[in-house]
Amino acid sequence: MEKLDRLAEFANSGEVDLVVFSGDFTAMGTRAEFATARAAIQPFVNSPAEFVCVAGNHDLYTRTVVREKRFETTFEGLLESDLPDSRVDGPWPLVRLLGDGVAVVGLNSAKPNPIPWRSSGRIPPQQLAALSEVLARPELEDRFVFIVTHYAPCLADGSPDTRAHGLENAEEFLRACAVVERGAILCGHVHETYRVRLPAIGPEIFCAGSATMHELEGFWMYEVEDGRLSARRGRWTGHGYEVEPGQVAPRPADGSSE
Ligand SMILES: [Fe+2]
Repeated sequence: MEKLDRLAEFANSGEVDLVVFSGDFTAMGTRAEFATARAAIQPFVNSPAEFVCVAGNHDLYTRTVVREKRFETTFEGLLESDLPDSRVDGPWPLVRLLGDGVAVVGLNSAKPNPIPWRSSGRIPPQQLAALSEVLARPELEDRFVFIVTHYAPCLADGSPDTRAHGLENAEEFLRACAVVERGAILCGHVHETYRVRLPAIGPEIFCAGSATMHELEGFWMYEVEDGRLSARRGRWTGHGYEVEPGQVAPRPADGSSE
C-alpha cells in the first residue's frame, strides 16, 4: 500500500495525463480484496490524470467472480468508453480519446482458470473483431494508439509464453494489431518490465511487469510527441519510485531465452 501511495505521487505530479493499469488488482478476486484494491487506487482516480484499467486473470479467477461481475462493479464509473457503440463484451473494448493525439483501447484477455496450474488467457473472438473495427474508425485516425491487455502476447525475447501461462490466441491478437502504424501494445502478467519489437508488427510491446512485487518493481513512463513515442523505465529505490533518465531502446525479438 505504501508503494502504491508513492506511485500515485507521479499521477499527481501534474506531468502525467494518463495512468494505465494492466490488471491483477487482487489475488483471488474476493470481495475483501476488491474493496481493498478500490481504496488503494483512489489516489490515482482523484489525480488529474485519466485512469484506464483492464482486468487481470487474478481478478477473474473463478466463475463466481465473473458471474457476480465483481470487477465491473468495483470499477464502476472507471470503465466508460468514448465509443460505447463499439462495445461487444461488457465494457470491452473500452476506448478513450485523449486530447487530439492519443487513443487507448482496452481489451479483456482474462478468464476463469479453475485448474490451479493453468493461468492462460484468451481474448474472445468478438473482442478481436471489434478491435479491428475500432482501429479502422475515423475517430482514431491520426492518433497514437495504446492497445492494453493483461496478457503479454510474447516474452521479453519475442518468443511465445507457455501454453499454461500465456495468451492462447496471441497470434490472432498480434495480427489484428499489425495494422497500427503508430501505436504500442501495453500488457502485464509477466513479472518483468520489458520492451520488445516483433518483426512485421508495427506497434512495439511494453510489459509493465509488477509495480509493487518485491525486487521486481517496475513500470513505464511514456511520452507521445508528434505521433512519436519515447519510453523510460520506472524503478523502486527502496523509499520511492523514480524514472530512469535515459530512454530504453526497443529490443528486436530474437526468439531465444536468456
Ligand atoms: Fe496475471
